[in-house]
Amino acid sequence: MRHLIDLITLSKATITTLLDKAELYKTKYLDTNATLDAFKGKIIANLFFESSTRTLLSFQIAAHRLGAIVLTPNMKQASTLKGESLLDTIHTLEAMGTDLFVVRHTDNNVAQFIASELHGPTSIINAGDGNNHHPTQALLDLMTIRQHKQQFETLTVAIVGDIIHSRVARSLVTGLKIMGVKQLNLTAPKLWVPDYVGETNIKIFNSLTDGLADVDVIIALRIQRERIQDKLIPNPEKYFQEFGITAEKMTVAKNDAIVMHPGPMNRGVEIDSQVADGAQSVILQQVSNGVAMRMAIMDSLLG
Ligand code: NCD
Repeated sequence: MRHLIDLITLSKATITTLLDKAELYKTKYLDTNATLDAFKGKIIANLFFESSTRTLLSFQIAAHRLGAIVLTPNMKQASTLKGESLLDTIHTLEAMGTDLFVVRHTDNNVAQFIASELHGPTSIINAGDGNNHHPTQALLDLMTIRQHKQQFETLTVAIVGDIIHSRVARSLVTGLKIMGVKQLNLTAPKLWVPDYVGETNIKIFNSLTDGLADVDVIIALRIQRERIQDKLIPNPEKYFQEFGITAEKMTVAKNDAIVMHPGPMNRGVEIDSQVADGAQSVILQQVSNGVAMRMAIMDSLLG
């Protein structure tokens, strides 16, 4: 594996190896606060053309923990503003010896485009492109699910909310299918049902009570306002009544169902605070796993 652009071409065995490696990093290094010198002299550049908190910080921590030289230029003030093309910026950083680009962009397929235009052996990780893919988020989510449920084959997973505009949902659906999940309940308002449905183990629900029935895992999504025309953004109170995950609505799910959210959360819109901070929530565990998973991914690409 040289780049990680999406999960589509990965096998179950490759994903399992990544999950195992991330577990190793978690117990061996993160739980003990250790820093490695495995990446001494390697240069990792985080190119975030779209804002980010946890994903960017998680990549920065992962790269520092591996002992790399970490560059995080402010892409909003970078020389692209002086008229330099994206590719000239990339080739400049390549010429300085960058080993890995971590790229986030508002447009679809930017990471893929950069990967196809590189002059040398630099690797690329897609940290989210438009509403397209977010492979590292999906992998850390798979890691979190496996920690609680041990396997995927017997699981019914509900993904709830703004599925159509969510790169997290698209990558998760891909990843969960590769891992052989039993059933996926895509639960969304009619307008937000994605176009990648139609497979036997994917069911569509427009009601939360139906979509959450007997599920093992609940994944709530933020309304991706930045990708929706203002007039199509629902009223937050009304949306919460219909699609907000509350303790009461969750009673139809399995008793040991876990609740996940990629963050940032809009409390009182897609999720109630009682659930987000409740005993079944694994949301902060997802964040911790993100660092271990990104160490594992970087190690697999550059190690
Ligand atoms: C997600 C993203 O950026 O796609 N967040 C994340 O990476 N943790 C989801 C979101 O922004 O709602």
